[in-house]
Amino acid sequence: MCKTVDIDWSNLGFSYIKTDLRYVSKWKDGNWDEGTLVEDHHLSISESSTALHYGQQCFEGLKAYRTKSGKIQLFRPNQNAKRINDSCKRVLMPEIPEDKFIDACIQVVKANEHYVPPYGTGATLYLRPFVIGVGDNIGVKPAPEYIFCVFCLPVGPYFKGGMAPVNFTVSQYDRAAPYGTGAAKVGGNYAGSLLSHELAVKKGFADCIYLDPLTHTKIEEVGAANFFGITKDNKFITPKSPSILPSITKYSLLHVAKEYLEMEVAERDVLIDQLDEFKEAGACGTAAVITPIGGIEYKGKLHVFHSKTEVGPVTKKLYDTLYGIQFGDVKAPK
Ligand code: COI
Repeated sequence: MCKTVDIDWSNLGFSYIKTDLRYVSKWKDGNWDEGTLVEDHHLSISESSTALHYGQQCFEGLKAYRTKSGKIQLFRPNQNAKRINDSCKRVLMPEIPEDKFIDACIQVVKANEHYVPPYGTGATLYLRPFVIGVGDNIGVKPAPEYIFCVFCLPVGPYFKGGMAPVNFTVSQYDRAAPYGTGAAKVGGNYAGSLLSHELAVKKGFADCIYLDPLTHTKIEEVGAANFFGITKDNKFITPKSPSILPSITKYSLLHVAKEYLEMEVAERDVLIDQLDEFKEAGACGTAAVITPIGGIEYKGKLHVFHSKTEVGPVTKKLYDTLYGIQFGDVKAPK
């Protein structure tokens, strides 16, 4: 019989919930083992693990969606497999074969099927794959052993309010250096953002915008998400930089804007002192989905896009189309 869980699906936020089973695979002497599902949500690792001292680790985020017919589907897991391997390469960790990565995700979803939120609640099952360097070691060098793990939890909106505009301020700190690790999904990038995030929240903002560290003139990221803007002549624009985390949602939106909404699209510089060129703006990512940006505070002034309270019509269409594809209501591209 299918298990049930007592969860208020429509009021979920983005908080940790322990689910039943997670996948763990270990790498040693050049090979990954087969991997297995385990109940224990703790890991026992050496105190000298490189993941703990030198940040040798990376992670991913993807979601499982329940469709109207009750079926469960993942959204572009092959893209997460590719990105985790790009991150692994950047911090000298062994890659994970794509079929192993996808199989691990499927095993975790199947084993926790009763945590996949019902269709219509807007909630999803968030999967968090990660790789960490472990084993006894003290020098600054790659670990002798690795663990690849995937756990999952049901989630609602990342930013409170979901598809409602929120305001951001510009961070005084940088997120990633031009040839640093910004494009890899490694924990250090996120540790470096905690202080900026807290300062932004204390000032009453949802999070902060990071500018390019070299000139501090161009938008790079929006907290843990990517930026997009809709120009007054209806083009979908998103920043281009080697230090931005390549968001799978962002690339999906570039496709949706071009192929479904017949918009012109471009990845190019977005200047912080030329926000006037945009009639709407948003943050996008797996966790954030699409979060409309009401306004951005820069040098003491709040630049408001479409509205501080209402979602712009283009942002709404982008959201409805992407959401429709993810939940199986709109035909996915081939
Ligand atoms: C995601 O969008 O999946 C992220 O990884 C962002 C964040 C929760 C770290």
